[in-house]
Amino acid sequence: VKKITTHTLQKMKANGEKISMLTAYDFSFAKIFDAAGIDVMLVGDSASNVMAGHETTLPITLEQMIYHAQCVTRGVNRSFVVVDMPFGTYQSDSKVALASAIKIMKETGAHAIKLEGGEEVVDSIKRIVSAGIPVMGHLGLTPQSIYKFGTYAVRAKEDAEAEKLKKDCQLLQEAGCFAIVLEKIPALLAKEVSEALTIPTIGIGAGKYCDGQVLVMHDMLGINTEFKPRFLRQYANLHEQIINAVTGYITDVKSQDFPNDSESY
Ligand code: KIV
Ligand code: NA
Repeated sequence: VKKITTHTLQKMKANGEKISMLTAYDFSFAKIFDAAGIDVMLVGDSASNVMAGHETTLPITLEQMIYHAQCVTRGVNRSFVVVDMPFGTYQSDSKVALASAIKIMKETGAHAIKLEGGEEVVDSIKRIVSAGIPVMGHLGLTPQSIYKFGTYAVRAKEDAEAEKLKKDCQLLQEAGCFAIVLEKIPALLAKEVSEALTIPTIGIGAGKYCDGQVLVMHDMLGINTEFKPRFLRQYANLHEQIINAVTGYITDVKSQDFPNDSESY
């Protein structure tokens, strides 16, 4: 198989071919998504929510992200694997950021890291890129700053915040990012920055003009049923299917229908 690289993604933008990205946190799902042909797999710090059950992404640690990333890379042949740098591992100074990024790359076999923020993290991005590590940016709604925002509402609806986002996009591109995630911003703002940038944008709740799209696997597979923002399209209802499978199993065990003679030695 031909492996996806940052160059592939750059070419896809140039050719107008949209980039497909999905989160993954373990070997078994990563293997399925890779076989299905997903271009980019994100080991998101949303693992803090969907794997660990925390309310926010803040508590997940570097070691925990590394564990998830190791599991994912073992299942991947073709996809480009990006790992989120967790809260607290890159904000303090650029040397700390580089050390965290190197640890992720050495221990996981992933292909790139992602971190949140604009101007505030540009020095860290430059240092990590200088070490030869591809960096994906993340602007708009940045969940590691949720207590600063106070809400998960759409970002950059006001002019001042939209101007800062546009400036941050340019700074991230100049710092050497190979792509930028745009989360929960108006579609027309995402269109404007996608056209202005030479690197691809990957949207989540950022409309159809982004160069690619990303969703959290538990949301798009319908494993989570409580989280239903308008940007989410649900492609399966695994919650219902799993409930049916498990209740069927319980019924068969209780009624002694399972196991039958052909299922026994
Ligand atoms: O952690 C995550 O899942 C993400 C995506 C939603 C972009 O950062
Ligand atoms: Na994330």
